[in-house]
Amino acid sequence: MADESRLPGVQGFIDLLLASSAPSPVLDEVGTVAAVGDGIAVVAGLGRALADELLVFASGVRGVVLDLEPDRLGVVLLGPSEQVRAGEDVWRTRKVISVPVGPGLMGRVVDATGQPLDGKGKVTAVAERPVEARAPDILSRAAVSRPLATGLKAIDAAVPVGLGQRELIIGDRQTGKTSIAVDTILNQARSEVLSIYCAIGQRGDAVARVIETLRASGQMAKTIVVVAGDESAPGLAYIAPYAAMTMAEYFADQAQDVLVVFDDLTHHARSYRELSLLLRRPPGREAFPGDIFYVHARLLERAGQFTPEAGGGSITALPVVETQAENLSAYIPTNLISITDGQIYLSPRLVRKNQFPAVDLGVSVSRVGGKAQHRAFREVAGNLRVTLSQFEELEDFARFGTRLDDATRARLVRGAAVRAALRQPERDPIPAVEQLMVLLAAMDGMFDGLSEAEVVAAMESVRASVGDTLTRIATRIADNLPLDEDDRASLLKVARAALSVPEHGRDADT
Ligand SMILES: Nc1ncnc2c1ncn2[C@@H]1O[C@H](COP(=O)(O)OP(=O)(O)OP(=O)(O)O)[C@@H](O)[C@H]1O
Ligand SMILES: [Mg+2]
Repeated sequence: MADESRLPGVQGFIDLLLASSAPSPVLDEVGTVAAVGDGIAVVAGLGRALADELLVFASGVRGVVLDLEPDRLGVVLLGPSEQVRAGEDVWRTRKVISVPVGPGLMGRVVDATGQPLDGKGKVTAVAERPVEARAPDILSRAAVSRPLATGLKAIDAAVPVGLGQRELIIGDRQTGKTSIAVDTILNQARSEVLSIYCAIGQRGDAVARVIETLRASGQMAKTIVVVAGDESAPGLAYIAPYAAMTMAEYFADQAQDVLVVFDDLTHHARSYRELSLLLRRPPGREAFPGDIFYVHARLLERAGQFTPEAGGGSITALPVVETQAENLSAYIPTNLISITDGQIYLSPRLVRKNQFPAVDLGVSVSRVGGKAQHRAFREVAGNLRVTLSQFEELEDFARFGTRLDDATRARLVRGAAVRAALRQPERDPIPAVEQLMVLLAAMDGMFDGLSEAEVVAAMESVRASVGDTLTRIATRIADNLPLDEDDRASLLKVARAALSVPEHGRDADT
């Protein structure tokens, strides 16, 4: 039993810990803080502590064992390091770091340890689960076969994402990465998919804006927001994505589909680098520690579509990573590109043209989503990529003032119209049938020669015309059936009527 005299003034804090259902310290195993750094502590005298074990400091701060060495432990602090003093006592808890899981978290904003940040009282959990878990093995995995609709034309048509996929959202700062992730969550109002938005290292106002958007749309009720902001301890930023993944796994085990956004893993990698350097681990490329690949791989490996025997649910991961000056071959971006099943690349060149969402279809791929794509989209998508890539080549060429023949000029006009049709404002994800209608109309030439503003108006009319007449087609899309010639003809007919374009097309009209 612990010698009470060794615990001066600590009883109050122990009572507090017991009251807050946090893991209680094991009082017969006590060590001392040998050194404290920004976010880390070196602890001596706890020779039997385990990796990932939660420790409790006399100051009340908690920490996680990251490094095990014969005479010392490298500990990541989960609270303010200013409160921890060299020489203070540290206790083991014999528990690994865990977070609450369960439906009670839906609609809540929590920190990386699952504690509420929204002032709405205690989180009701069905259980506590360790934040680190083994990725499901191969036999528990099924093929990605069902689409996850983002509601964004440029993505659903050309870079489709499937449930259980890991698709990277990558781009320079301010290219609309967060916006794509948030729109995808908003679009889940049309599905049964639950969402988790994990904000890592972001400014408070940016996170507040996302939460506000989710609340205003009503989608917050089906979303958990996990926040480790830029002012929180680097240890919290480090464990936040694992915590979010653990929360997702609970739902996937109940055969539900979950979408998890990690915004962003650049900040996560930086926090981990900071901790590793302070713990004096040997730095590697770009000063990141050697295991940074493993840090992200073991997180994203936990996503997937699982077999009915393994719960039958799915976890779709949308990790976000920021590039510097469009450098896709920097260390963290290349790592993540190789871990994920494709990437949505947002280009600053398109942002400068005010082309939002700024998805660069030349560099974006979805390696498994095509199989899960709505069959109705497939044909449109093939043409779309070809039309756009031909157009972009010609566009550069035409800038030299070369004289163009009629066919080339027509292709330029069509390309410009199709690109304009891919534009979409923020917070306005649209259903599949409306996307299809707009894209078919653009590819058919109904938007040729229109100004940008006119294309916006035309898209509105086309979307508005999707009424009762098209429910049959909407049902076919929902059932993942391909569209036949008749369906396509009736979509185009409705679009033409909406735009008052005669049957034989706009060109013949002029
Ligand atoms: N579809 C869109 N239409 C118009 N503007 C958009 C669209 N998407 C994003 N934007 C604008 O682009 C800017 C950047 O968006 P966002 O914050 O999503 O980018 P980000 O890449 O996440 O930025 P950061 O690097 O700061 O995280 C914002 O001002 C946003 O309003
Ligand atoms: Mg962002």
